[in-house]
Amino acid sequence: MRSADRLKSCLLQFRVSPAGLHFSLPHGLLRALTLLIVSAAWIVIAANVEPALANPGGITNIFKPLSQPAQEIREISLLVIAICATIFLIVAGLLAYTIVRYRHRPGDEVSEPPQIYGSNQIELAWTVLPLLIVFVLILVTSRTIADIQNRKPGPGAVQATVVGHQWWWEIRYPELGIVTANELHVPAGTNSLPQPTFLKLESADVAHSFWVPQLAGKTDLIPNRQNLMWIEPTQPGTYLGNCAEYCGTQHARMLIRVIVQPPAEFERWVAEQKRAVTEDSSTQEGRKIFFANSCVNCHTIRGTSAQGMFGPDLTHLMSRETLASGATLNTPATLRAWVRDPQKLKVGCLMPNMQLVDEQVDQIVAYLQTLK
Ligand code: CUA
Repeated sequence: MRSADRLKSCLLQFRVSPAGLHFSLPHGLLRALTLLIVSAAWIVIAANVEPALANPGGITNIFKPLSQPAQEIREISLLVIAICATIFLIVAGLLAYTIVRYRHRPGDEVSEPPQIYGSNQIELAWTVLPLLIVFVLILVTSRTIADIQNRKPGPGAVQATVVGHQWWWEIRYPELGIVTANELHVPAGTNSLPQPTFLKLESADVAHSFWVPQLAGKTDLIPNRQNLMWIEPTQPGTYLGNCAEYCGTQHARMLIRVIVQPPAEFERWVAEQKRAVTEDSSTQEGRKIFFANSCVNCHTIRGTSAQGMFGPDLTHLMSRETLASGATLNTPATLRAWVRDPQKLKVGCLMPNMQLVDEQVDQIVAYLQTLK
C-alpha cells in the first residue's frame, strides 16, 4: 500500500477535530455518545482545573459567583442550561429509542417501510415550539444585560481605568492618583451596604478581554474605545482572572488578580500607594544602574526622572504579589530571574534581556526591593 493511501485509511478511522473525537463507528448513536462523554469530561476538567497560580480563595468558577453581576449571570446560565438540557434529553432519548427499537434484525424484509410526506401539525409544532423557546431566552437575556449595563456609579463608587497591554494590565485610579499594574485592589461591600467599583476598559494595542469569572462577565478592551463594567464583591479575598481574548503569544500569561479588601484595609492600601518612594542610600549603586540603562524609558517611578509609559509603574513594585502579569510570584529569586532575562520567563514580552552582569543584576534587584 502506498504511504499516502495508508495515511488516508488511518485518518478515516480516527480523526481529531476541535469539536471532539470522531470514530468511524457504524451508528450515529455511538458517535453522539462519544462526543457527549468527551464534552462532559472536558467540562468537568475545565471547571476543576486550578489556574496557573494557586488561589487560596478557591477556583475561578462562574457557578460560584461572589459579586452582583456574576450572580445575575449565574442565574440566567442555570435557566439556559436547564432549558437546553431538557431539549437535549428529549431529542437524545427519542433518537436512542428509535435506533434501538427499529434497528435492523435478521429476517427483516428488505422492503421499504411506509413513507409519510408532510404533516401540518408536526411541522407547525416543531416550528412554533422552538420559536417560543428562543423568544423566552431572548427576553430573559436582554433583561439581565440591561440590568447590568444600566447600572450607574453612585457617589461612593470606586472608579478605576484598566488599560490592556501586550501582555499586562495597567491600572489607574484617576480620583485617587494611584497607578499600579496587574493587581486591582477594591473594597468589599456587604449585602446591606454594597460597595461597587466601576471600571473603564481601554487598550493600548490590540483587543484584550477582562474576565474575573466570580466577579462579573467578560468585557473586551478595544483600541480607541472605552468599555465600562462594574463589580460589587462582598467577600474579601483574591480573585483570579485571565485575559479572555487572544492577544498574541503571551495571551495565556496575562493574568489578573482582583484583591478585595475590607474597607479599612483598602484605605490603608490607598494611603501606602499614594506615598512617595523613600530613597534608601544603601542601594545607590543599583539606582545608578537602573537610571543609566534604558529601564527609565519604559517604567515610571513616581518622584524620580523615570517617567516611561510603556511598562508597568514600579513606584510600589514590592507591594504586588506577582510579577509579569501573574506569570510568577514576586519573590527575590523570581525578581532576579526576571531582571536577568525576561525573555526566559515570558518569551516575546517587550522587556529585553539587558545583558547585565551578575553584580549589576544583584544591585538593580536590591534597588527594586526598596520600592515598597
Ligand atoms: Cu490580552 Cu489576551
